[in-house]
Amino acid sequence: MEKETINPSQPTVIRLLEIDSTNEFLKRNQNSLKNGTVVLAEHQTKGKGRRGLVWTSIPGKSLLFSMLIKPLGVMEPVTNFSICPAIAIIRALSKFDIKAAVKWPNDIMINGRKIAGILVESSWASETLNAVIIGVGLNVTQTPTELEGLSDAGSIYTQTEKIIDREQLFEFIYKEFRQLSDYLQLKEPFTDLIQEWLSFCEHLNSPVQLLDNAGNIYGIFKGINQNGEAIIETADQQRHIFKHSRYKMRKNKCC
Ligand code: BTN
Repeated sequence: MEKETINPSQPTVIRLLEIDSTNEFLKRNQNSLKNGTVVLAEHQTKGKGRRGLVWTSIPGKSLLFSMLIKPLGVMEPVTNFSICPAIAIIRALSKFDIKAAVKWPNDIMINGRKIAGILVESSWASETLNAVIIGVGLNVTQTPTELEGLSDAGSIYTQTEKIIDREQLFEFIYKEFRQLSDYLQLKEPFTDLIQEWLSFCEHLNSPVQLLDNAGNIYGIFKGINQNGEAIIETADQQRHIFKHSRYKMRKNKCC
């Protein structure tokens, strides 16, 4: 199948005041929208997070957007699409002199608090991957009071005291996204980006705890494989691979 490319001279950005979820909007409209379409919303009424959680937001305080990547026409699951948006966000924040880090699988952190999350969803026709939808929720100007009750959440403002222009931040992130479009179209292997991702990862070679419904796993985080899965070395020196859909990772103070 001939792969369509994201044409940088003809980007499509749809701006909405309110929607249930920007990911759901792209999923519903994927057949009529062109590759690379981005939808931004001021507010989501049913924002979705990873692991079936809700992503809450106050209108006008965050960046909430999703990008449609199609048609991929591959047969195998590609699990590491979140590498590109994580890198795009961290590169964009550095233009405001803000140093952010990535926490596996795809949380963007500043000074130990999560300021952005990425939700990657895929759309299959039979056994072929038709489209991937990359959703980003980024807390920009929320105050500490506005984030109360969200355990490890922060915003750019709470973590840096900077009031960043959301539109400019979006433009920077979107530009970086487009520069990474060959990876998103699977024309370049994600392996090339893994070193950059690892350079932004604060818990590489550190003790971590992986939490899921079945219990906790303790070990040393040894990086990610080419599918974006975590490599964890347990106390018996064995290396184990973990897929990201189920787990939340915490830095662990002891082994
Ligand atoms: C996470 O749980 O860390 C991922 C959160 C992703 C939230 C974004 S907001 C824009 C897009 N639309 C959604 O419904 N979710 C993603």
